[in-house]
Amino acid sequence: MDKPEVVLGVSGGIAAYKACELLRRLTESGHDVRVVPTGSALHFVGEATWSALSGNPVSTEVWESVHEVPHVRIGQAADLVVVAPATADLLAKAAHGLADDLLTNTLLTARCPVIFAPAMHTEMWEHPATQENVATLRRRGAVVIEPAVGRLTGVDTGKGRLPEPAEIFDVCRRVLTRGAAGAEGQDMAGLHVVVSAGGTREPLDPVRFLGNRSSGKQGYALARTAVARGARVTLVAANTTGLPDPAGVDVVPVGTAVQLREAVLKAAADADAVVMAAAVADFRPAHYAEGKIKKKDGADPEPVALVRNPDVLAEISADRARSGQVIVGFAAETDDVLVNGRAKLERKGCDLLVVNEVGERKTFGSDANEAVVLGADGSETPVPLGPKEALAEIVWDLVSRRVR
Ligand code: CTP
Repeated sequence: MDKPEVVLGVSGGIAAYKACELLRRLTESGHDVRVVPTGSALHFVGEATWSALSGNPVSTEVWESVHEVPHVRIGQAADLVVVAPATADLLAKAAHGLADDLLTNTLLTARCPVIFAPAMHTEMWEHPATQENVATLRRRGAVVIEPAVGRLTGVDTGKGRLPEPAEIFDVCRRVLTRGAAGAEGQDMAGLHVVVSAGGTREPLDPVRFLGNRSSGKQGYALARTAVARGARVTLVAANTTGLPDPAGVDVVPVGTAVQLREAVLKAAADADAVVMAAAVADFRPAHYAEGKIKKKDGADPEPVALVRNPDVLAEISADRARSGQVIVGFAAETDDVLVNGRAKLERKGCDLLVVNEVGERKTFGSDANEAVVLGADGSETPVPLGPKEALAEIVWDLVSRRVR
């Protein structure tokens, strides 16, 4: 699968520096980004910064690399165009179809979703000319994000600030996976969902444990996307200390499989859906040594006896806390992925099973994921390699359809 191609248009406003962070977020989450600044944007942030951060050539005019016909090709090839910041002048040109530089030409040739993140002084934003231009762009299907309220260029404050790069990135992600309608979609409002994430650790003594390599990133992506779609989210997080708590999510930290079971059962009592993305240890040491286990000179190590952990997914699937509750499992497989996945779905009794193929360098700790979602109804939804957020959106699409 090719990386999604994103055009980041930058027009000439002081907030152009914030587009650097947006660019980083896009590239780090697996997008191929082509930055197209306007001439005046380069007064704020130079060409070298854009090309170094994007790894792609940067041009502002249609007269560079003319043999490649960039004024047509860049727009045609794009999966998404996002303009941040979009000045009043840029919005006016886009609304009227002017094409006097590479960015405005790209806007005319693009047939993919287009997002504008305006930034300007309050008076300029509120002017009827700007408001009519915004209305025109929205009527044609573009997503125009409302500017934020706060400190503007000088000491003045008001509406017109560029929204935080993280917020613009979030809109880009949703538009890429769900189309322009996904920008405002609150289709999970009123639902309570529980997500488990990370990997359990089963202690041998006060300093050692049996654990696994799950980073928790997929579970966190599930939590973030569900909140963005309006759901109330409880995230049962097993040993995910490196990850910041996602905004708006109720995080319950746990360590072992037994603690995870307790937290999931409690949160599931009034949940519409439970997604078990955590890697739960199937076994734990039979004995926990209160003091640190010491090696004995010349002696062979003692074998470690293990006992079974509860299977949380099988338990909540067999004994649903609410009728109609949707339960999703994850399976990491190294061989015969689909055959093993089907068998596991049946064994666990859940409604959906997301099957990942894992290996030394695949999936664990990375920002991208590739999977197949198997349904108990026989359905099979392939998810191409892409950001973990994209997989999360598909999981919630499938869950929402079953909850309703
Ligand atoms: N799971 C669970 N409780 C366990 C073990 C796993 O709830 N004790 C859940 C995981 O959160 C995941 C799913 O079950 O959603 C699949 O886990 P996996 O370890 O891949 O499956 P196993 O049943 O352990 O099968 P195997 O190890 O044989 O592949």
